[in-house]
Amino acid sequence: MKIRLAQYMGFCYGVKRAVELAVNSGGGVTLGPLIHNPQMVSRLARQGVGVVNDLEEVEAGTVIIRSHGEGPAVYERARAKQLNLVDATCPHVKKAQQAARKLTEADRQVVILGEKNHPEVKSILAWAGDDAIVVETADEVRALPYIAHLGVVVQTTFSRSLFEELISLLQNKTDDLAVERTICTATDQRQQSAIELAKQSEVMVVVGGKNSGNTTRLASVCEQAGARVYHIETAAELRPEWFQGVQTAGITAGASTPDWIIEEVYHTMEEMNMGNQESVKLETGMIVKGTIAAVRKDAAFVDIG
Ligand code: F3S
Repeated sequence: MKIRLAQYMGFCYGVKRAVELAVNSGGGVTLGPLIHNPQMVSRLARQGVGVVNDLEEVEAGTVIIRSHGEGPAVYERARAKQLNLVDATCPHVKKAQQAARKLTEADRQVVILGEKNHPEVKSILAWAGDDAIVVETADEVRALPYIAHLGVVVQTTFSRSLFEELISLLQNKTDDLAVERTICTATDQRQQSAIELAKQSEVMVVVGGKNSGNTTRLASVCEQAGARVYHIETAAELRPEWFQGVQTAGITAGASTPDWIIEEVYHTMEEMNMGNQESVKLETGMIVKGTIAAVRKDAAFVDIG
């Protein structure tokens, strides 16, 4: 069995930065889980970085704002409580927040294209103000009334094809449309390289939190590309029977999946493949801890031991 890795997978820039800021914070709490990966969150807890769900639970010390960002009220409350604030909001999310604020200030009706319950969308909404609307589907866009001055901001991890579809529908709802293209390329790169690999693979193993939206989307694009897909969080979930008679298997991982988990998955699949005479190792050779980044162009390995 040939095991290949997607060219772009795992930690994106914003997640890598957030994890580094948390690790270097010297201990504290994150407002909500730092990333949608339970294994990484447990590892951070062992390093003194806990999780709270509300600022009310914190009286002193360091609070880390995660890559999804927060609304202005959280910054104000943290300042009032004199907490030490570490802002790990991804710069791309910050840009979307600022764009939403700018459109509101320009007296436009802000429409955010994104998942209503996603923390990033909630943070953008908080910056946009009370009148902003969140829409996620074509039907929701069709149900909108005519809007004189419309401003659109997009969740950074939104599907590009759905974005194009919704924008063309929105053009029928207004004569004055301003669009801030705030989709982040990391998501696109991961999806495109997952599709490419899935087209060449009988089986795709997609690694990442079951609660991670971008990992779930990777699993669905791989399925659409024709591969049999297994979405797992850790190597312990791998089953040898998945690979029986399989010649080509691929691995990809969501933007919140740390490299050490991807490496464990690769090694376990390789062990399951032992004894297969036609086994072909990854072209770059054996993956050892830390070197997985070398096979990817946007290497983002964080060794927090
Ligand atoms: Fe930021 Fe893009 Fe990652 S918005 S958190 S770099 S997916």
